Amino acid sequence: MLPEALIQALREARHVCVLTGAGISAESGIPTFREAQTGLWEKHDPMDLATPEAFLRDPALVWRWYRWRRSLVAGATPNPGHRALAQLEELVPQLTLVTQNVDGLHVRAGSRNVIEFHGNLFVTRCFVEGCVIEVDDEAEVPSCPACGGHARPGVVWFGEAIPEQALERSFAAAQDCDVFLSIGTSSLVYPAAGLAELAKRQRAVVAEINPGPTGLADRFDFAIPGKAGAVLPELLAGLSGDRR
Ligand code: APR
Repeated sequence: MLPEALIQALREARHVCVLTGAGISAESGIPTFREAQTGLWEKHDPMDLATPEAFLRDPALVWRWYRWRRSLVAGATPNPGHRALAQLEELVPQLTLVTQNVDGLHVRAGSRNVIEFHGNLFVTRCFVEGCVIEVDDEAEVPSCPACGGHARPGVVWFGEAIPEQALERSFAAAQDCDVFLSIGTSSLVYPAAGLAELAKRQRAVVAEINPGPTGLADRFDFAIPGKAGAVLPELLAGLSGDRR
């Protein structure tokens, strides 16, 4: 049973800001990063695969890993958690969805105001210039057609800055919202994990949805134990009866 006070806060909200992490895509069959035995970082060292240095050390290995992740996502479909957030966007005056995920499933589920905080798996950029490029995907390490340098996956790696516009829009949404939902994230990676604190500081109602409490849970007004694919449709059911 969800807290009535959270449902009521959503009923009255002018602006809802949502932060999602890998957990919301877990029910679509996409591995998270830090869960014991099943997380991607259990099997691979992120420093070997998700940093600019790793890429320069072995671009073919990094491309193989990202092509594997692209194939996982291409075979996945949005789950009830993704779809519930797309429905929520229709029910509240304004919803800003900040996702740490690079799988594109929120957009495929129909969400419109999505900020891809860590980029997108299916975007390719020039490693040298950073611009988005189209490449011949057959090459082991695709090259930039403009400068001939390496092409790279269009995701944000450890040690890299969040795209300026994504950062500004996300911070602005956290500072403006009336309700902040943190869903399916371990709240370990900054600056994304700092958004909830920003919302809290300006007196938004802050809730976490996660099967297990994260390190920030005691900072939240509500820490709802459960899977996104079950909790979010329940949240919608509690809300949609009352909002026109
Ligand atoms: N519903 C909701 N939450 C879930 C579910 C589910 N069905 N299954 C797992 N979770 C939770 C886990 O309990 C965990 O707290 O999702 C969280 C996933 O945490 P991480 O694996 O750390 O993923 P995330 O928080 O997205 O990582 C942040 O770190 O590796 C980098 O760039 C990468 O964007 C990623 C960032």
